[in-house]
Amino acid sequence: MAKQRRPFVCGNWKLNHLREDTEQLTTALAAHVSNLTHVDVAIAPVATHLWIAQQARTNSALKLAAQNVSEFDSGAHTGEFSIAHIREMGCDFAIVGHSERRAHDADTNERVGAKVTACLKGGITPIACVGETLSDRESRKTFDVVGAQLRAILRACMPNSDVVIAYEPVWAIGTGKVATPDQAQEVHAYIRKLMRELIGTDFSPRTRILYGGSVKATNAAELMQQSDIDGFLVGGASLKIDDFLPIMQAAGGI
Ligand code: PGA
Repeated sequence: MAKQRRPFVCGNWKLNHLREDTEQLTTALAAHVSNLTHVDVAIAPVATHLWIAQQARTNSALKLAAQNVSEFDSGAHTGEFSIAHIREMGCDFAIVGHSERRAHDADTNERVGAKVTACLKGGITPIACVGETLSDRESRKTFDVVGAQLRAILRACMPNSDVVIAYEPVWAIGTGKVATPDQAQEVHAYIRKLMRELIGTDFSPRTRILYGGSVKATNAAELMQQSDIDGFLVGGASLKIDDFLPIMQAAGGI
């Protein structure tokens, strides 16, 4: 049965690409994305280079995402940038609660919830990340950990909220160890069930759940066949067009 959700792929460039590469990759991607009618595509360059990407994209079918955003509107928060700032830079999306920020930048469940609230209030669609560590998985705490992260995100949501959830098992990020399609689907199904229980039967079937963690051209199509996987949050393989394009095509069923 065809999925009712439109596939979505977001490239998370992390701390990579200076000006020239940002311009070249953005321009090249924008040209391809205008021909891909069955998938939504966004890129998340380094925050300082969102301006460059905004100018380099030749059409707005290629969406822009921030890799993070402050939960505050303004004030004494050195080094931060707000929803209003990323909107001025052309963003429609913001990644919040990425595991690297949860581990190193004090993104607690509570703070991630506050960031989701700020996004929704300011008209930015959050791509809210959840995922367990290897030790969580080995001690059979995957559902407890992902459940607690998701509850904090969903507390900020209403039935009509526009959010994207990204399931990224920490042990699969940048390691080359991808979750099997069954492992990923099991957690995606759990996320969808919890969304239905907590927010309702309108929200759950229309909200996209992305998988992230060592996604490549060689595993994307198989993951995409799972009933609750609606696309990907891609790190390493989003940095070169030859790696990223086949993932976008696989998500779009090409
Ligand atoms: P990866 O990163 O694709 O390099 O594993 C994914 C992510 O961290 O979003």
